[in-house]
Amino acid sequence: MSEFGERLVGGGAEGPEEQVIEAALRPKRLDDFVGQERVREQLSLVLRSALRRGRTPDHVLLSGGPGLGKTTLAMIIAAELGQPLRITSGPAIERAGDLAAVLSTLAEGEVLFLDEIHRMARPAEEMLYMAMEDFRVDVVVGKGPGATAIPLDIAPFTLVGATTRAGMLPGPLRDRFGFTGHMDFYVPAELEVIVQRSARLLEVEITDEGAAEVASRSRGTPRIANRLLRRVRDYAEVRGDGTVTLETARAALALYEVDERGLDRLDRAVLGSLLRKFGGGPVGLSTLAVSVGEEPETVEVVAEPFLVRQGFLARTPRGRIATPAAWAHLGLTPPPTAPLAGVALFDLDETADEPG
Ligand SMILES: Nc1ncnc2c1ncn2[C@@H]1O[C@H](COP(=O)(O)OP(=O)(O)O)[C@@H](O)[C@H]1O
Ligand SMILES: [Mg+2]
Repeated sequence: MSEFGERLVGGGAEGPEEQVIEAALRPKRLDDFVGQERVREQLSLVLRSALRRGRTPDHVLLSGGPGLGKTTLAMIIAAELGQPLRITSGPAIERAGDLAAVLSTLAEGEVLFLDEIHRMARPAEEMLYMAMEDFRVDVVVGKGPGATAIPLDIAPFTLVGATTRAGMLPGPLRDRFGFTGHMDFYVPAELEVIVQRSARLLEVEITDEGAAEVASRSRGTPRIANRLLRRVRDYAEVRGDGTVTLETARAALALYEVDERGLDRLDRAVLGSLLRKFGGGPVGLSTLAVSVGEEPETVEVVAEPFLVRQGFLARTPRGRIATPAAWAHLGLTPPPTAPLAGVALFDLDETADEPG
């Protein structure tokens, strides 16, 4: 494990315990799902019209970062359709045969959830195209010149695919989804509702200000909001009277080193190094990573996207640079030589933050 330890503000679900708690906190129906107004409304139409016609709905693709509610929505889709949900994931499908085994045992109308669909093996992808379009697969038996394809009918089903990297899906696969929902980061007001709701389910007393504080440090992500809520609850139980107030939320999050904007120790180390050691950049990713004792990939995948989104850091062809907001956030004065010292944020080239 790195010097920065387990991340309280990572988007992924960390362990079995967290997964159990998440299951308990998942909204079960579309009406209980907070935020994502547009996706929710569109999806509701797709599902209602399918129910009315007595047909299986179009296949659904859900794209968005970790912890934004893709798995939750997949479960809701099955619940709204009154159908069982079958769950598998891209990495679990290593061969076309793995997929055939799942598809051939689906019952009519069933919902198949394929998480991390962009990580599925290529040969399985092609089988999936056919299954999605014609509810049929060709199972190849044997190898080499003697191999034969045996066509197999499968029951009409609904595929719900989820991906954090929609751009990595091959076009033909993307095209076979009748509906794509892009999940955005949540605004603080929505996260506040989620925190209040989770607090109710976990039987935690929380004030409005306490909930707002947790929400504002949650990086736009419900999973992180729920996790911070649990840590703040621990603190309130042990050091306070059990009620999460503004003060206990602040004190607890200070203890866990999650700052007002949701930056943790790693984020601040990266930003601090960029400012203090490299005068705000530009500096190459690996140099920056070495300066904080981390792997370049960790810095790139874990810290940077959030720092970019918060407008603290920009990726340029010459390297990483800090924005004026970064200097301000760490309470430092940029030297006149700092990149962008006199440039307004909106002048930044927006395309520069796409990883190359
Ligand atoms: N819109 C939402 N309303 C309420 N809770 C949500 C919402 N989206 C996500 N959550 C909560 O956040 C956690 C993570 O959601 P999940 O669906 O597993 O995210 P993903 O599959 O996108 O990584 C779940 O415990 C769920 O309860
Ligand atoms: Mg998920």
